Formats: sequence, C-alpha cells, structure tokens
Amino acid sequence: DADLITLDEGYCNTGSCRSAITYIDGEKGILCHRGIPIEELAEHSDFIETAFLIIYGHLPSESERDVFSELLTDNAALHTTMRRHYAAFPERAHPMAILSAMINALSAHDRPKIDPGDDATFEKYAANLMSKVRTIAAGSYKTSIGQPLIYPRSDLLYAENFLHMMFSVPYHEYELKPEMVKALDLFWLLHADHEQNCSTSTVRMVASGEANLYAACSAGVVALWGSRHGGANTGVIQMLQHMRREKISPEDFVRTVKDRSSSVRLMGFGHRVYRSVDPRARILKQAAEDLLAALDVVDPLLELAQELAEVALADDYFIERRLYPNVDFYSGIILRALGIPLNMFTVMFAIGRMPGWIANWREIHNNPKTRIYRPRQIYTGEVGRSWRPIEER
Ligand code: SDX
Repeated sequence: DADLITLDEGYCNTGSCRSAITYIDGEKGILCHRGIPIEELAEHSDFIETAFLIIYGHLPSESERDVFSELLTDNAALHTTMRRHYAAFPERAHPMAILSAMINALSAHDRPKIDPGDDATFEKYAANLMSKVRTIAAGSYKTSIGQPLIYPRSDLLYAENFLHMMFSVPYHEYELKPEMVKALDLFWLLHADHEQNCSTSTVRMVASGEANLYAACSAGVVALWGSRHGGANTGVIQMLQHMRREKISPEDFVRTVKDRSSSVRLMGFGHRVYRSVDPRARILKQAAEDLLAALDVVDPLLELAQELAEVALADDYFIERRLYPNVDFYSGIILRALGIPLNMFTVMFAIGRMPGWIANWREIHNNPKTRIYRPRQIYTGEVGRSWRPIEER
C-alpha cells in the first residue's frame, strides 16, 4: 500500500528511517560510527572520543576533546535535592526503574530547553546528562547496599570516576586498576550506538513529538530494559549460572533450546540485523579473556560460554537460522570481573548507549523536515458492530 511505504523525512511507516550516525551491514558483520569501523575505534579510540564522534559527526580536535571531557567532569555531581529521590524508592527497586525515573527527575531540575541548531545549549545539557547517568547509577547501587553516596572526583576520567563512585567507601578510596578501567571504557565504547534498535527508535519517536532530550533518553532506558534487548546481558549470566547450578551440559542445553515446546532461548545469540557474528561480540570475547588474564582470575562462566558457543555454532538449528553471538554474549563476563552486580548489567548498557540516544535525539530535533512518528497499522478487529444496552449483552 503506497501509503505505508512513503519515506517521510525522519521516519517511514514501514519502520525505516534516514540517519547519518551509524551504519550496519548485517550480512557482512560491519558496524561503523560516522563512517569509522568499530574495530578501528575499539583499537585506537576511547569511549569519550567515540561518544563525541557519534554525537557531533567528527573526531574531536584536542581542544574539542578537552572541552567535552571537562564538561563531563564538571557536571558529574548530583544536586542535593536530586539525591533525595533515592529515599523514595523501595529497597529492592530495579536500577533501571531508578535510572529512568531519575533522568526524568533531572529534567525537572535542569529544564533542558534546547532550540533546534543551538549547539552551545545542546552541548551543555548533553554533557550534563551523559555525565550524571553514571552518578545516578552508582548512587542507586550505593543506596541498595545501604552505603553512603560517594562524590565524584574532579581528577578522575569518565570510567575511573564511575568505578570510584561505585566501590569507594568513606576514608577508603577504591584501587583503580588500569586494566579494569580500560575494559569498562571499551565495554561502553562498544555499546555507544547501534543504528535503529528498539531503544534508539523509541528515543527518535519521542524526539519527533518534541519531548526534551532527557525525557527521550529516559524512554530509551525503559525500552532497553526488556530481556530481548538490553536485559539480555543479565539473561546470559543467569542462563550460564543455571547450567552450572543444575549441571546442564552445553549439548543438553542446546537440545532444550531446539525443542520448540520449551521456548528456551540461547541468550546472547541471534540478532534482527546480523546474519553473521556481531563484530562487537568478537571484540568483547577477546576483552573478557584479556581482562581475566590481567586480573589473574578464572571465571568458570567464560569457559562455559565458550563451550556453549562452540556447540551452538556447530549445530544446524543455529546455522540454518544464522544465529550467532551478539553483543550480550560475552559482555557480562567483563561486568562480573569488574564487580558490577547482576541487576546493574542493563544499567551499564544504558550508560554506554547514552551517546547514541543523544545523537539520535539531536538528529531528529535539528532536522526541520522531521514529522511526528505516526506508524500506521493493519486493522484486524471486528467491524460493523453497534452499541447494545447492558441488559441485552
Ligand atoms: C540487543 O537491534 C539491535 O541492534 C539490538 C542490540 C543493540 O546494540 O541495540 O544489538 C542489542 O538487543 C542484542 C540482542 C539481545 N537479545 C538476546 O540475546 C535475546 C536472545 N535473542 C533473541 O530473542 C532474538 O535473537 C532477538 C530478539 C535478538 C532477535 O529476534 P528476531 O530477529 O525477531 O528473531 P526471531 O525471534 O524471529 O527468531 C527467528 C528464529 C525463530 O525460530 P523459528 O520460529 O524460525 O523456528 O530464530 C529463533 C527463533 O525461535 N531464535 C532463537 C534465538 N533467537 C532467534 N532460538 C534460540 N535462541 C535464540 N537466541
């Protein structure tokens, strides 16, 4: 139906859109941000530089990078009234609920009014949001374990400051190991953007209605939460822990997955776009191995994950459906080695994805041709009915 395939600026009713931020070739396993392959960024860049590239479209000059980094450092602390919100959550509140609520609370504090094309104002709020999501996340963890919130330090860079706010305690600074900081920075770099995934499309849809930057990113957080999307990194570890606890071999687990009546999925496998290995999975697998070796730590779940992948990748069920490891299959191993609690894994994904959501909001907000997203539907309900009095129903 021609009506369903008209490609409006910004969004097409069939669910595709125009964007200049990230390119994926699912057949070849290619992922580029602003034209630069993820492999080159993973090897030569870092999360802050890649975030700048994704948001502004070019690699920063030295002065641009310094300004961006300083804005992130200067905006890390939460206002006292923001910190009071933690007390309103029940003790067992899920950190993704806290993160999405606190980002909206932040919009009440900051009132981020940004006119299209006003990059000076945008830069202030974008850096503020990107900086504070770390502090909010660390604060939700501290609150959940009954420890006092730890202030960010002005002498620490992005990933260092997060680990400090997560694991330092009063009068005892957390020992920042370079290999852990590097692994966390790479984890976030690899999650920074990924074309029109579920949560980024949500951000674009909310942005098309002219909601503010923070509100749109808060919507991205809740879209990411689900087990099919950002919740999968948690699901992978729970799957591996279940296999170890119940002494289920990779062969037996794959057999269960293939049994269509079981509805059990191999978490961390499969992707709507990739029909080959997710390039991020390949890099994360190596990073997980390198981190464990550097820490001289053996995680039995990594070994089990490798065995499980080997069995699955040799099985026709997965080969025929072109199901390969995705970004979530090995990422949890890194988070475990960093000491991140399991219920914070998806929050870690959200912190990494923030630059991508911010960039997509900006692309929609600055495009004068943007129209409100308004998907159409194929109506499958009843027709030709009339109202009847209740005594006749
Ligand atoms: C992310 O979009 C993005 O870019 C997302 C993301 C990003 O960076 O934003 O890459 C991040 O969300 C990665 C995906 C994380 N989710 C998981 O790992 C959960 C497990 N994977 C699946 O649930 C699934 O693969 C999806 C949700 C990722 C993709 O689902 P699709 O494309 O809708 O595929 P499908 O559900 O239609 O499955 C096609 C077939 C089905 O079998 P048949 O009906 O043909 O017999 O493949 C099977 C499915 O049963 N299948 C799986 C499977 N994934 C698909 N079978 C077992 N285990 C799996 N993981």
